[in-house]
Amino acid sequence: MKIFLDSAEVEKIRRFAAIGMVDGITTNPTLILKSGRKQKEVVKEICKIVPGPVSVEGVQETAEGMVEDGEEFASWAKNVVVKIPMTEEGLKAVRILSKKKIKTNVTLVFSPSQALLVAKAGATFVSPFVGRLDDIGQDGMGLVRQILQIYRNYGFGTQVIVASVRSEKHVVQAAEAGAHIATVPPQVLESMFRHQLTDAGIKKFKEDWEASQR
Ligand code: G3P
Repeated sequence: MKIFLDSAEVEKIRRFAAIGMVDGITTNPTLILKSGRKQKEVVKEICKIVPGPVSVEGVQETAEGMVEDGEEFASWAKNVVVKIPMTEEGLKAVRILSKKKIKTNVTLVFSPSQALLVAKAGATFVSPFVGRLDDIGQDGMGLVRQILQIYRNYGFGTQVIVASVRSEKHVVQAAEAGAHIATVPPQVLESMFRHQLTDAGIKKFKEDWEASQR
């Protein structure tokens, strides 16, 4: 399974990219705001650090506006993927952008029927938001399993990015379900390295090594 970092914070991206753990990046207007930088400038910098897909989102509501934005974003770097909202206009834009060989990631997907339409529109990626569904008492990972089943039934090429990931458990469940990608916030990726028994084991081995040298 590929791991994308759901972040526009360059220092964090550099840190995890240096360990070879970042296969791509997803951003959204909230994450750009959090980075405290201008979208174009930060995206161009991220694209130099990470060679994999870097999703960039606009806020246009018409297909025409989304295509215009998408062409602009795609001109910033060759690995830019245009994030498109799951709307009728959005799917119209996906079709136009894919004809222009511009990759798309349809975001804010909360149902299997939406995901079916996304694949039929020819999107490169679909992003079901598992955490936000769990937040309202629904089964986020159940949605991922349904989407994967539907895509398998018909051989759709759209790749599933498990998004709105809240915990290391979500990442494991995404991998168990066979999702292509999980996009994880930096703090979740950090937690994936850790286990209390690993820390305790390192401490004990160090103490015993030191004792053996006396
Ligand atoms: O990037 C989209 C998605 O991962 C957002 O997550 O935590 O705002 O629900 P969240």
